Amino acid sequence: MSKKTFYITTPIYYPSDKLHIGHTYCTVAADAMARYKRQQGFDVMFLTGTDEHGLKIEQKAKAAGTTPKQFVDNIVIGPNGILDLWKLMNVSYDRFIRTTDDYHIESVQKIFKTLYEKGEIYKSVYRGKYCTPCESFWTDSQLVDGKCPDCGRDVIDAEEEAYFFRLSKYTDRIIKLYEENPSFLEPESRRNEMINNFLKPGLEDLCVSRTSFKWGIPVDFDPNHVVYVWIDALSNYITALGYLNGKYEDFERYWPADVHFVGKEIVRFHAIIWPSLLMALDLPLPKQIFGHGWLLFDGGKMSKSRGNVVDPAILVDRYGVDALRYFLLREFPFGTDGNFSNELLINRINSDLANDLGNLVSRTGAMAEKYFGGTLPAEREEGDVDKELLDMVAALPAVFCDYMEKYAFQSALQEVFKVISRANKYIDQTMPWALFKDDSKKARLASVLYNLLETIRVCSILLWPVMPETSEKIWKLIGASGEQTTSESAKVWGVLPADVTVSKGDVLFPRLDVEKELAALLDAKATAEAASQEQPQAPAEAKEAKKEKPAPAEQITIDEFAKVEMKVGKVLVCERVPKSSKLLRFELDMGDHTRQVLSGIAKWYEPEKLVGRHVVVVSNLKPVKMMGLESNGMIVSSVGDDDVPHLLFADDAAPGAKLC
Ligand code: MSP
Repeated sequence: MSKKTFYITTPIYYPSDKLHIGHTYCTVAADAMARYKRQQGFDVMFLTGTDEHGLKIEQKAKAAGTTPKQFVDNIVIGPNGILDLWKLMNVSYDRFIRTTDDYHIESVQKIFKTLYEKGEIYKSVYRGKYCTPCESFWTDSQLVDGKCPDCGRDVIDAEEEAYFFRLSKYTDRIIKLYEENPSFLEPESRRNEMINNFLKPGLEDLCVSRTSFKWGIPVDFDPNHVVYVWIDALSNYITALGYLNGKYEDFERYWPADVHFVGKEIVRFHAIIWPSLLMALDLPLPKQIFGHGWLLFDGGKMSKSRGNVVDPAILVDRYGVDALRYFLLREFPFGTDGNFSNELLINRINSDLANDLGNLVSRTGAMAEKYFGGTLPAEREEGDVDKELLDMVAALPAVFCDYMEKYAFQSALQEVFKVISRANKYIDQTMPWALFKDDSKKARLASVLYNLLETIRVCSILLWPVMPETSEKIWKLIGASGEQTTSESAKVWGVLPADVTVSKGDVLFPRLDVEKELAALLDAKATAEAASQEQPQAPAEAKEAKKEKPAPAEQITIDEFAKVEMKVGKVLVCERVPKSSKLLRFELDMGDHTRQVLSGIAKWYEPEKLVGRHVVVVSNLKPVKMMGLESNGMIVSSVGDDDVPHLLFADDAAPGAKLC
């Protein structure tokens, strides 16, 4: 009999910037789920990828002086790009789709044509509100205070010839879908939001092509138009299986998907537009859309961190990939938002991984080694306190799986850690050190250690989807392998041989000093930023392109400008920062105080020639650390076509004078 299949997807990510910890959240969750299902014996297809078209990428590429394809290649497959990030995070995807892949383009063109020929897409003129950064059209009723409901920025009136998908005719069918199959969209709160905000007011036809930018899949029968982002992006879930292309032949095998994991702001596209498109194509619908919450920073959606380190590479480097994966899934309920902070991460590592899990494994290993030279004798003697622990372990796999099936990672992990704490308590209750002193208690001592090893074995099997490297390390230490580490074997007690051999091994998770760690993280971030500033410049021909059409600067209000404080500072000391080819360290007389500022102009200025000069400083910037030194402000310079910074001098102005 063929295996049961499980098809899970993440959203495909925009390669417009480096991904941060918020992006890794969904991918790590999907990875844990894929691993869990593989462990259960399912034939899994885990798909992720990148959504590479659209105006935003076209604009960013122009600003960077590259072609859109070079731009996305750099972020997706370049050094420290998205593929590298998934490797770092131990993400075991089965397929990675890029919407610039030829086979995807071929399928999307066919999908668009099919919908057009069926009368599901028609040509008209679009007039409405458009948010350029979000590439989203909004109806008047969806705007919040006249602004984009996603990003809060201004929208513009847009009018252009466009193709439309007859989304409006699907309103009733989508409502019926939710009524008949409430689990189609989880959690429930997201369903209510869709019904109240979009379905009850009635859906409007959806603009599905654009003529105002070129970086997209051309409509083959009307090449002035490119397919507008959502048909292109959503189709990835079926084109990646080979739908209407010859690249893969997995559509029959895996479609419909078991679940699409998506962030809450794109639930509308997945739970309304996507099923409508599939209905229009007469294709089966995915079984479920799960709209997870955001990792928030200071109450906002995380984009750039203010003070916290959110670069997954730095966090993995310091704490290891499993600690980060565990934290993401244990700290926040998957369905709702959670406030991310480095302090939470460090505390969670200390409490659960160092104190509970790490401690249990190292104590057990050390005792087995000390009391029996690593190999337990086969004799056994049961004790009164055993039953409670053994009952908990026996009940654990079923409870754990119940939660995993509902994507309740936090609760599933909590259950495992309840057992781990209970096992630590069991050590205190049974006092193996006292048993060791009594020769008549050797069999009892062996039983205690064996019970601990079996508890560790079962817990580590369940933890494997979330912390694969750690579980595999533990299996080596407790001498478990093959059949003894399967999910089936987690339901069975007494799988390790009676005379199991155990080793002590290294500490799994060292305890961290919170204050020192927070400082070290910011240091690591500054070093990484300084290193990235020292990257070679873009090639010459790319700069030519940049000169042709500079990207327009974002407009700000006078109030926003007024927040920036600029003052004159007299250079008292100026010297090179050791080991940095870029940074100069300044001590500046600011009139009422002196301060240290670092500036990346070492290539162009002799430090000694700047002493005594008066420079302009942005004086109310939050301090940052670079190369271990604090910088309090930024020295202002101008940059012309030669890309060389020219300091702005204000030698006639007094130190401390304010620019206005
Ligand atoms: N390209 C679209 C998705 C198309 S799927 C057919 C897109 N890309 S994105 O890169 O902007 O976002 C990808 C996912 O990352 C979204 O699900 C989004 O919710 C998620 N996250 C981005 N920042 C996040 C957090 N701070 N926290 C959790 N997830 C977040 O949207």
